Amino acid sequence: MSEITITIDDRQISAREGDILLWAALDNGVYIPHLCAHREEEHPSASCRLCFVEMQGRPMPVPACTVKVADGMVVSTRSERVDALVAAGFELIMSNHRLDCKNCAANGSCELQRIAKERKLRLKPKNLPALERDLPVDSSAAGILYDPGKCVLCGHCVLACRSSGRGILGFTRRGYERIVTTFGDAPLGESGCDSCGACAGACPVGAFSTRKAR
Ligand code: SF4
Ligand code: SF4
Ligand code: FES
Repeated sequence: MSEITITIDDRQISAREGDILLWAALDNGVYIPHLCAHREEEHPSASCRLCFVEMQGRPMPVPACTVKVADGMVVSTRSERVDALVAAGFELIMSNHRLDCKNCAANGSCELQRIAKERKLRLKPKNLPALERDLPVDSSAAGILYDPGKCVLCGHCVLACRSSGRGILGFTRRGYERIVTTFGDAPLGESGCDSCGACAGACPVGAFSTRKAR
């Protein structure tokens, strides 16, 4: 693939033709909020709706994880429309999130905290009511804790578990009921999970975390 030049926020950046815009930006130090994109996946789900950018020639903002770069492309990561879309998407995610940073394993390295800081957004939803979902924490595995109430449905743990050769995790249910769970919804400790930690290493928030083996 040939080297091309694109412009993001008035800065010229080199990329390879056909690269995904989100990764080209991040690899060059330009931050765009993102949760659900995976570098290894060719067809992004674009489900978190956080990576919107403006592109010259496009009438509406587009998710950067769905765009392939081309020579001469001109992109802005901020605009009134982008900021409004990102704020609305973030609020929706946070209305369905068990917010408890003080006691969370991800406190200080959490992607939600980073997005809030970068875009000056509140972690606590302001306009939407917090959804009450009674999802118990799964502490049945020896070295892993799983709090589905903190999950943002990004899918990184599912891919990591599959890549590790175990393939225990997957998505189930639809809409607000959607969660990551094990085959047959069994507790982790009864699912074949050996606490390898791949899920915790991949989770950008505090839903999967490691703990000392019992
Ligand atoms: S996942 Fe992030 S935002 Fe949520 S409680 Fe943990 S540190 Fe806070
Ligand atoms: S548990 Fe973590 S890695 Fe898995 S889908 Fe939820 S937020 Fe993403
Ligand atoms: S990272 Fe693009 S929509 Fe989630």
